[in-house]
Amino acid sequence: MGKVGSAKRIEVAKVEDLAVGVGKRVELQDEKIALFRLNDDRVHAVQNSCPHKQGPLSEGIVSGDHVFCPLHDWKIDVTDGMVQAPDEGCVKRYDVEVENGTVYIVK
Ligand code: FES
Repeated sequence: MGKVGSAKRIEVAKVEDLAVGVGKRVELQDEKIALFRLNDDRVHAVQNSCPHKQGPLSEGIVSGDHVFCPLHDWKIDVTDGMVQAPDEGCVKRYDVEVENGTVYIVK
């Protein structure tokens, strides 16, 4: 991936600190982000706030590429931030890069 404008990488975690299938909450300035390490070791990041009533997605149950909100069970694809039917909406997703065991958010 090429560099885009003033994009910068911000270190947010070590891969070894992310348990597979368990969300981790991190903060970037005042943004709350949920990191997810999936079964195949891909790492994805979305806003840690459900579009329904702000449930903390980092505390949800992960299944495949999805997390189930801990409050009312909305199902959200962590790879693109889309809420799955029958519910609607989306959460902000963040670009993630992993290099030498370190996880970066690219902004
Ligand atoms: S707050 Fe997430 S489903 Fe209601």
